[in-house]
Amino acid sequence: MAMAMAMDMPEGTVKNVLDQESLKWVFVGGKGGVGKTTCSSILSILLSQVRQSVLVISTDPAHNLSDAFQQRFTKIPTLVNGFSNLYAMEVDPKVEGDELSDEGLDGFLSELTNAIPGVDEAMSFAEMLKLVQTMDYSVIVFDTAPTGHTLRLLQFPSTLEKGLEKVMSLKNKFGGIMNQATRLFGLGDEFSEDAMLGRLEGMREVIEQVNRQFKDPDMTTFVCVCIPEFLSLYETERLVQELAKFEIDAHNIIINQVIFDEEAVESKLLKARIKMQQKYIDQFYMLYDDFNITKLPLLPEEVCGVQALRKFSEHFVTQYKPSLMRGTIEEVKQRISILKSQLQEAEAELERLQKD
Ligand SMILES: Nc1ncnc2c1ncn2[C@@H]1O[C@H](COP(=O)(O)OP(=O)(O)O)[C@@H](O)[C@H]1O
Ligand SMILES: [Mg+2]
Repeated sequence: MAMAMAMDMPEGTVKNVLDQESLKWVFVGGKGGVGKTTCSSILSILLSQVRQSVLVISTDPAHNLSDAFQQRFTKIPTLVNGFSNLYAMEVDPKVEGDELSDEGLDGFLSELTNAIPGVDEAMSFAEMLKLVQTMDYSVIVFDTAPTGHTLRLLQFPSTLEKGLEKVMSLKNKFGGIMNQATRLFGLGDEFSEDAMLGRLEGMREVIEQVNRQFKDPDMTTFVCVCIPEFLSLYETERLVQELAKFEIDAHNIIINQVIFDEEAVESKLLKARIKMQQKYIDQFYMLYDDFNITKLPLLPEEVCGVQALRKFSEHFVTQYKPSLMRGTIEEVKQRISILKSQLQEAEAELERLQKD
């Protein structure tokens, strides 16, 4: 009930994600370079303060959790330095499949991937989820790859479903292929066909279970990260629509790299950028009035290392207030005079427009 109320009244922070104790899977996605890794790192840090244990996983082949945390991560969950309950891992959805084809399963695997594009990727994603599920983390944060790639991964249950059907039909086509398939699914050579079919059914169960969880808004949510620019707005809308199609909950948008009109901005370039950003920010608020929209300031420097991440995390839980607003009378006076001159400019422009 409390959650429903929070959703009814968007807050302007990601606090709702931290408050939703039933959440098990948090996806963070958006266009390349908008701040997905930064946001998933910070979300996982914040979650580690309120949940028993947190795992952050990067599924972006261009891994940079290691850069954000300034610590080397691998495909095995590793404790993040300075934490007792925050773990990180980086997985490459492509690699596993490539290793398999090197082992001489080329014919079978390429037959399967030709029939169902993305099935190799879907399989290693499923394997990873299966593994992660047995590990008992309270909540798992995904630092996902840019949009297209992520949406493909979220389709993985149906992709795998088709894959399994195909395996059954290939069974007749290739003699003895089932032995290879047992290795493909990492089951070991000693399994009989019947036993293997049983295991495939078992895998289907895991897939269906995860799929159910992904579609349950109590357990799963997708946080969309974007920047206030046309392409990013466009991409976010596409993402939100696709997620709705997959029945995956999304009710948070983080607008990153916002230039706040904090100081008396003199630069014409900056003024123009601020104006442009405001136009798109307004559109975000109009399109997503039922979303929690969190705005993050563009910093003069990168957000690198635990200390910087922790410092930046304050913007995730409190709404940004330009310091001038909190400042001295002098600053307020200065701000009023800026507003006055902006008003004059606007009036002059209006006059010009009316003349034309
Ligand atoms: N608000 C911000 N201000 C300044 N630098 C930022 C901000 N958000 C992200 N960055 C920096 O921008 C770069 C890209 O961010 P990142 O989170 O890796 O994006 P993505 O994962 O979407 O590709 C990183 O170097 C990061 O430190
Ligand atoms: Mg990234």
